[in-house]
Amino acid sequence: MVREIDELREAAIGAINTASDLKSLEELRVLYAGRRSRLREILSGIGQLSAEERPVVGQAAGKAQREIDSALDKRQLALQDLAEQADALDVTLPGRRGHRGRKHPLTAMTDELVDVLRSMGFAVADGPEVDDEFHNFDALNTPADHPARDEHDTFYLDDGHLLRTHTSTVQIRVMENQPPPVRVISQGRCYRKETVDATHHMVFHQIEGLYVDEGVSLAELKGTLTTLGRQVMGDQTEIRFRPHFFPFTEPSVEFDFSCSICSGDGHAGGGRCRVCKGTGWIEIGGAGMVDPNVFRSVGYDAEKYTGFAFGFGIERVAMIRYGIDDIRLFFESDLRFTRQFGG
Ligand code: PHE
Repeated sequence: MVREIDELREAAIGAINTASDLKSLEELRVLYAGRRSRLREILSGIGQLSAEERPVVGQAAGKAQREIDSALDKRQLALQDLAEQADALDVTLPGRRGHRGRKHPLTAMTDELVDVLRSMGFAVADGPEVDDEFHNFDALNTPADHPARDEHDTFYLDDGHLLRTHTSTVQIRVMENQPPPVRVISQGRCYRKETVDATHHMVFHQIEGLYVDEGVSLAELKGTLTTLGRQVMGDQTEIRFRPHFFPFTEPSVEFDFSCSICSGDGHAGGGRCRVCKGTGWIEIGGAGMVDPNVFRSVGYDAEKYTGFAFGFGIERVAMIRYGIDDIRLFFESDLRFTRQFGG
Protein backbone atom coordinates (compact mmCIF):
# COMPACT_ATOMS: atom_id res chain seq x y z
CA MET A 1 0.00 0.00 0.00
CA VAL A 2 2.94 2.29 0.73
CA ARG A 3 4.02 1.80 -2.85
CA GLU A 4 0.64 2.84 -4.10
CA ILE A 5 0.84 5.97 -1.95
CA ASP A 6 4.31 6.83 -3.30
CA GLU A 7 3.16 6.38 -6.90
CA LEU A 8 0.08 8.46 -6.23
CA ARG A 9 2.17 11.23 -4.68
CA GLU A 10 4.59 11.30 -7.59
CA ALA A 11 1.82 11.34 -10.18
CA ALA A 12 0.00 14.10 -8.29
CA ILE A 13 3.01 16.37 -7.88
CA GLY A 14 4.07 15.83 -11.49
CA ALA A 15 0.62 16.80 -12.73
CA ILE A 16 0.36 19.77 -10.38
CA ASN A 17 3.74 21.21 -11.37
CA THR A 18 2.87 21.08 -15.04
CA ALA A 19 -0.72 22.34 -14.71
CA SER A 20 -0.95 25.12 -17.29
CA ASP A 21 -3.76 27.19 -15.84
CA LEU A 22 -5.76 27.79 -12.68
CA LYS A 23 -8.75 25.85 -13.94
CA SER A 24 -6.85 22.58 -14.50
CA LEU A 25 -5.10 23.11 -11.16
CA GLU A 26 -8.52 23.28 -9.49
CA GLU A 27 -9.44 19.95 -11.10
CA LEU A 28 -6.22 18.41 -9.77
CA ARG A 29 -7.02 19.77 -6.30
CA VAL A 30 -10.35 17.97 -6.32
CA LEU A 31 -8.73 14.81 -7.62
CA TYR A 32 -5.79 14.65 -5.20
CA ALA A 33 -6.83 16.66 -2.17
CA GLY A 34 -10.62 16.64 -2.33
CA ARG A 35 -12.94 14.87 0.08
CA ARG A 36 -13.28 11.90 -2.25
CA SER A 37 -9.63 11.56 -3.23
CA ARG A 38 -7.87 8.20 -3.12
CA LEU A 39 -5.56 9.45 -0.37
CA ARG A 40 -8.52 10.40 1.84
CA GLU A 41 -9.95 6.98 1.22
CA ILE A 42 -6.72 5.35 2.35
CA LEU A 43 -6.49 7.57 5.43
CA SER A 44 -10.05 6.89 6.49
CA GLY A 45 -9.54 3.13 6.07
CA ILE A 46 -6.44 3.09 8.22
CA GLY A 47 -8.33 1.79 11.24
CA GLN A 48 -8.94 -1.47 9.47
CA LEU A 49 -5.26 -2.14 8.91
CA SER A 50 -3.08 -4.35 11.06
CA ALA A 51 -1.16 -2.84 13.99
CA GLU A 52 2.16 -3.05 12.06
CA GLU A 53 0.78 -1.57 8.84
CA ARG A 54 -1.11 1.28 10.50
CA PRO A 55 1.81 3.61 11.44
CA VAL A 56 3.72 2.95 8.20
CA VAL A 57 0.77 3.63 5.92
CA GLY A 58 -0.43 6.49 8.12
CA GLN A 59 2.92 8.21 7.96
CA ALA A 60 3.33 7.72 4.20
CA ALA A 61 -0.20 8.96 3.48
CA GLY A 62 0.16 11.99 5.78
CA LYS A 63 3.46 12.96 4.22
CA ALA A 64 2.06 12.52 0.70
CA GLN A 65 -0.93 14.69 1.57
CA ARG A 66 1.29 17.50 2.94
CA GLU A 67 3.54 17.43 -0.10
CA ILE A 68 0.58 17.48 -2.47
CA ASP A 69 -1.03 20.38 -0.58
CA SER A 70 2.13 22.43 -0.66
CA ALA A 71 2.70 21.66 -4.38
CA LEU A 72 -0.89 22.81 -5.04
CA ASP A 73 -0.34 26.10 -3.12
CA LYS A 74 2.96 26.82 -4.84
CA ARG A 75 1.60 26.17 -8.30
CA GLN A 76 -1.43 28.29 -7.55
CA LEU A 77 0.75 31.31 -6.64
CA ALA A 78 2.93 30.84 -9.70
CA LEU A 79 -0.07 30.62 -12.03
CA GLN A 80 -1.68 33.69 -10.42
CA ASP A 81 1.52 35.68 -10.96
CA LEU A 82 1.61 34.63 -14.57
CA ALA A 83 -2.03 35.59 -15.05
CA GLU A 84 -1.41 39.04 -13.56
CA GLN A 85 1.62 39.64 -15.71
CA ALA A 86 -0.30 38.64 -18.77
CA ASP A 87 -2.98 41.18 -17.85
CA ALA A 88 -0.44 43.97 -17.32
CA LEU A 89 1.52 43.41 -20.48
CA ASP A 90 -0.33 43.56 -23.72
CA VAL A 91 2.41 42.96 -26.22
CA THR A 92 0.12 43.93 -29.08
CA LEU A 93 -0.17 47.57 -27.93
CA PRO A 94 1.94 50.10 -29.86
CA GLY A 95 4.97 51.35 -27.88
CA ARG A 96 4.94 54.62 -26.02
CA ARG A 97 7.61 57.08 -27.10
CA GLY A 98 9.60 58.60 -24.22
CA HIS A 99 9.90 62.37 -23.91
CA ARG A 100 13.34 63.51 -24.90
CA GLY A 101 14.38 66.93 -23.66
CA ARG A 102 16.69 69.25 -25.53
CA LYS A 103 18.69 72.32 -24.71
CA HIS A 104 17.08 75.73 -24.66
CA PRO A 105 18.69 77.86 -27.40
CA LEU A 106 20.31 80.11 -24.78
CA THR A 107 21.78 77.11 -22.99
CA ALA A 108 23.05 75.70 -26.27
CA MET A 109 24.64 79.05 -27.17
CA THR A 110 26.17 79.44 -23.70
CA ASP A 111 27.60 75.93 -23.77
CA GLU A 112 29.18 76.62 -27.12
CA LEU A 113 30.78 79.88 -25.96
CA VAL A 114 32.02 78.27 -22.76
CA ASP A 115 33.50 75.33 -24.69
CA VAL A 116 35.47 77.61 -27.00
CA LEU A 117 36.79 79.75 -24.13
CA ARG A 118 37.66 76.73 -22.02
CA SER A 119 39.64 75.34 -24.92
CA MET A 120 41.65 78.59 -24.80
CA GLY A 121 42.51 77.97 -21.16
CA PHE A 122 39.81 79.88 -19.30
CA ALA A 123 38.36 78.31 -16.15
CA VAL A 124 34.69 78.75 -15.32
CA ALA A 125 33.87 80.90 -12.27
CA ASP A 126 30.49 81.59 -10.74
CA GLY A 127 28.98 84.35 -8.62
CA PRO A 128 25.65 85.34 -7.07
CA GLU A 129 22.87 87.09 -8.99
CA VAL A 130 21.94 89.00 -5.85
CA ASP A 131 25.05 90.98 -5.02
CA ASP A 132 26.07 94.22 -3.34
CA GLU A 133 27.06 97.68 -4.57
CA PHE A 134 30.69 96.98 -3.78
CA HIS A 135 30.99 94.09 -6.24
CA ASN A 136 28.67 95.54 -8.88
CA PHE A 137 30.01 99.12 -8.79
CA ASP A 138 32.54 100.37 -6.20
CA ALA A 139 35.22 97.73 -6.71
CA LEU A 140 34.74 98.18 -10.46
CA ASN A 141 35.88 101.79 -10.16
CA THR A 142 32.31 103.08 -10.30
CA PRO A 143 31.82 105.28 -7.21
CA ALA A 144 28.38 106.28 -5.91
CA ASP A 145 28.16 109.54 -7.84
CA HIS A 146 29.33 108.01 -11.10
CA PRO A 147 26.87 108.53 -13.97
CA ALA A 148 27.45 104.94 -15.16
CA ARG A 149 25.37 103.80 -12.19
CA ASP A 150 22.32 105.50 -13.66
CA GLU A 151 22.92 104.02 -17.08
CA HIS A 152 22.61 100.60 -15.57
CA ASP A 153 19.08 101.17 -14.21
CA THR A 154 19.59 98.86 -11.32
CA PHE A 155 16.99 96.86 -9.41
CA TYR A 156 17.70 97.49 -5.71
CA LEU A 157 16.41 95.28 -2.91
CA ASP A 158 15.16 96.70 0.37
CA ASP A 159 18.16 95.44 2.32
CA GLY A 160 20.66 97.36 0.20
CA HIS A 161 21.53 94.43 -2.07
CA LEU A 162 20.90 94.58 -5.80
CA LEU A 163 20.35 92.31 -8.77
CA ARG A 164 23.65 92.34 -10.61
CA THR A 165 23.57 94.45 -13.76
CA HIS A 166 26.48 92.61 -15.36
CA THR A 167 28.72 89.60 -14.83
CA SER A 168 31.69 91.88 -14.08
CA THR A 169 30.88 91.31 -10.39
CA VAL A 170 32.52 87.92 -10.77
CA GLN A 171 35.82 89.52 -11.83
CA ILE A 172 36.00 91.09 -8.38
CA ARG A 173 34.90 87.96 -6.54
CA VAL A 174 37.56 85.87 -8.28
CA MET A 175 40.38 88.36 -7.73
CA GLU A 176 39.44 88.79 -4.05
CA ASN A 177 39.91 85.08 -3.61
CA GLN A 178 43.07 84.28 -5.53
CA PRO A 179 46.35 85.87 -6.49
CA PRO A 180 47.32 86.34 -10.16
CA PRO A 181 47.57 84.82 -12.69
CA VAL A 182 43.83 84.66 -13.32
CA ARG A 183 42.15 83.37 -16.44
CA VAL A 184 38.42 82.93 -15.90
CA ILE A 185 35.10 83.25 -17.61
CA SER A 186 31.73 83.66 -15.99
CA GLN A 187 28.27 83.53 -17.42
CA GLY A 188 24.77 83.93 -16.15
CA ARG A 189 21.70 86.03 -15.64
CA CYS A 190 21.85 89.80 -15.27
CA TYR A 191 19.10 92.33 -14.59
CA ARG A 192 18.41 95.88 -15.68
CA LYS A 193 15.32 98.04 -15.46
CA GLU A 194 14.83 98.09 -19.21
CA THR A 195 11.66 98.63 -21.13
CA VAL A 196 11.08 95.29 -22.77
CA ASP A 197 11.04 95.30 -26.59
CA ALA A 198 12.29 93.09 -29.42
CA THR A 199 15.94 93.64 -28.51
CA HIS A 200 15.85 94.50 -24.80
CA HIS A 201 14.79 92.54 -21.77
CA MET A 202 15.10 93.23 -18.07
CA VAL A 203 16.46 89.72 -17.60
CA PHE A 204 19.29 88.73 -19.90
CA HIS A 205 22.50 86.72 -19.91
CA GLN A 206 26.10 87.79 -20.20
CA ILE A 207 29.38 86.03 -20.56
CA GLU A 208 32.51 87.64 -19.21
CA GLY A 209 36.21 86.94 -19.51
CA LEU A 210 39.13 88.08 -17.35
CA TYR A 211 42.81 87.46 -17.88
CA VAL A 212 45.39 88.91 -15.49
CA ASP A 213 49.11 88.23 -15.49
CA GLU A 214 52.38 90.02 -16.00
CA GLY A 215 52.56 91.57 -19.45
CA VAL A 216 49.04 90.86 -20.75
CA SER A 217 48.38 93.10 -23.75
CA LEU A 218 45.55 94.52 -25.83
CA ALA A 219 46.81 92.40 -28.73
CA GLU A 220 46.01 89.28 -26.70
CA LEU A 221 42.52 90.60 -26.07
CA LYS A 222 42.02 91.09 -29.77
CA GLY A 223 43.43 87.64 -30.53
CA THR A 224 41.18 85.99 -27.96
CA LEU A 225 38.04 87.71 -29.24
CA THR A 226 38.95 87.02 -32.85
CA THR A 227 39.36 83.32 -32.12
CA LEU A 228 36.06 83.29 -30.26
CA GLY A 229 34.31 85.11 -33.12
CA ARG A 230 35.67 82.74 -35.75
CA GLN A 231 34.72 79.63 -33.77
CA VAL A 232 31.19 80.81 -33.10
CA MET A 233 30.27 82.98 -36.11
CA GLY A 234 32.37 81.39 -38.86
CA ASP A 235 36.07 81.39 -39.82
CA GLN A 236 35.81 84.43 -42.08
CA THR A 237 34.78 86.61 -39.13
CA GLU A 238 36.74 89.83 -38.65
CA ILE A 239 36.80 91.90 -35.48
CA ARG A 240 36.68 95.67 -35.02
CA PHE A 241 37.42 97.72 -31.90
CA ARG A 242 35.73 101.09 -31.39
CA PRO A 243 36.89 103.40 -28.58
CA HIS A 244 34.43 103.48 -25.71
CA PHE A 245 34.25 104.08 -21.98
CA PHE A 246 33.82 101.67 -19.09
CA PRO A 247 34.83 102.72 -15.57
CA PHE A 248 36.65 99.43 -14.96
CA THR A 249 38.76 99.25 -18.12
CA GLU A 250 41.29 101.68 -19.55
CA PRO A 251 41.48 101.88 -22.49
CA SER A 252 37.97 100.59 -23.18
CA VAL A 253 36.49 99.43 -26.45
CA GLU A 254 33.29 98.16 -27.90
CA PHE A 255 33.90 95.29 -30.25
CA ASP A 256 32.01 94.28 -33.38
CA PHE A 257 32.14 91.12 -35.46
CA SER A 258 31.82 91.31 -39.21
CA CYS A 259 28.28 90.34 -40.18
CA SER A 260 28.01 86.60 -40.71
CA ILE A 261 24.75 87.00 -42.67
CA CYS A 262 26.03 89.24 -45.50
CA SER A 263 29.70 88.29 -45.04
CA GLY A 264 30.40 91.88 -44.09
CA ASP A 265 29.48 93.60 -47.37
CA GLY A 266 26.15 94.94 -46.12
CA HIS A 267 24.04 93.30 -48.84
CA ALA A 268 21.89 90.23 -48.42
CA GLY A 269 18.91 88.83 -50.31
CA GLY A 270 19.14 91.46 -53.03
CA GLY A 271 18.96 94.40 -50.61
CA ARG A 272 20.43 95.92 -47.49
CA CYS A 273 21.37 93.27 -44.91
CA ARG A 274 18.74 93.33 -42.18
CA VAL A 275 21.00 91.98 -39.46
CA CYS A 276 23.82 94.55 -39.70
CA LYS A 277 21.59 97.20 -41.31
CA GLY A 278 23.99 97.43 -44.20
CA THR A 279 27.00 98.37 -42.08
CA GLY A 280 28.73 95.01 -42.41
CA TRP A 281 29.38 94.97 -38.66
CA ILE A 282 27.46 93.66 -35.67
CA GLU A 283 27.94 95.18 -32.25
CA ILE A 284 28.75 92.45 -29.78
CA GLY A 285 30.04 93.74 -26.46
CA GLY A 286 32.49 95.70 -24.34
CA ALA A 287 36.10 95.06 -23.43
CA GLY A 288 39.34 96.69 -22.40
CA MET A 289 42.43 96.57 -20.24
CA VAL A 290 41.63 96.25 -16.54
CA ASP A 291 41.79 99.66 -14.87
CA PRO A 292 44.59 99.87 -12.24
CA ASN A 293 41.98 101.10 -9.74
CA VAL A 294 40.21 97.76 -10.02
CA PHE A 295 43.46 95.97 -9.17
CA ARG A 296 43.91 98.25 -6.17
CA SER A 297 40.41 97.51 -4.87
CA VAL A 298 41.20 93.78 -4.76
CA GLY A 299 44.74 94.21 -3.45
CA TYR A 300 46.61 93.30 -6.65
CA ASP A 301 49.89 95.06 -7.47
CA ALA A 302 48.81 97.45 -10.22
CA GLU A 303 52.43 98.14 -11.20
CA LYS A 304 53.24 94.52 -11.74
CA TYR A 305 50.11 93.10 -13.39
CA THR A 306 48.04 93.96 -16.41
CA GLY A 307 44.94 92.26 -17.66
CA PHE A 308 42.08 92.33 -20.09
CA ALA A 309 38.37 91.85 -19.60
CA PHE A 310 35.45 91.48 -21.95
CA GLY A 311 31.74 90.95 -21.61
CA PHE A 312 28.75 90.60 -23.89
CA GLY A 313 25.14 89.53 -24.05
CA ILE A 314 24.47 85.91 -24.92
CA GLU A 315 20.96 86.60 -26.28
CA ARG A 316 22.40 88.90 -28.90
CA VAL A 317 24.86 86.34 -30.21
CA ALA A 318 22.19 83.62 -30.15
CA MET A 319 19.76 85.86 -32.06
CA ILE A 320 22.28 86.41 -34.84
CA ARG A 321 23.48 82.85 -34.82
CA TYR A 322 20.01 81.29 -34.97
CA GLY A 323 18.21 84.04 -36.87
CA ILE A 324 15.86 84.98 -34.00
CA ASP A 325 14.33 88.42 -34.35
CA ASP A 326 12.70 88.94 -30.96
CA ILE A 327 14.49 88.55 -27.61
CA ARG A 328 11.18 87.92 -25.83
CA LEU A 329 10.90 84.53 -27.52
CA PHE A 330 13.71 83.22 -25.29
CA PHE A 331 11.65 83.72 -22.15
CA GLU A 332 8.16 82.68 -23.21
CA SER A 333 8.75 78.94 -22.89
CA ASP A 334 6.72 78.29 -26.02
CA LEU A 335 7.65 74.79 -27.13
CA ARG A 336 6.92 75.63 -30.75
CA PHE A 337 9.89 78.00 -30.49
CA THR A 338 12.31 76.14 -28.23
CA ARG A 339 11.82 72.83 -30.09
CA GLN A 340 13.51 74.31 -33.13
CA PHE A 341 16.89 74.47 -31.38
CA GLY A 342 19.33 72.45 -29.36
CA GLY A 343 20.50 68.92 -29.79
N1 PHE B 1 30.23 94.90 -17.94
C1 PHE B 1 30.11 95.60 -19.17
C2 PHE B 1 28.63 95.80 -19.52
O1 PHE B 1 27.82 95.09 -19.00
C3 PHE B 1 30.81 94.88 -20.29
C4 PHE B 1 32.29 94.80 -20.08
C5 PHE B 1 32.85 93.70 -19.46
C6 PHE B 1 33.10 95.82 -20.49
C7 PHE B 1 34.21 93.64 -19.25
C8 PHE B 1 34.46 95.77 -20.32
C9 PHE B 1 35.01 94.67 -19.69
O2 PHE B 1 28.27 96.61 -20.30
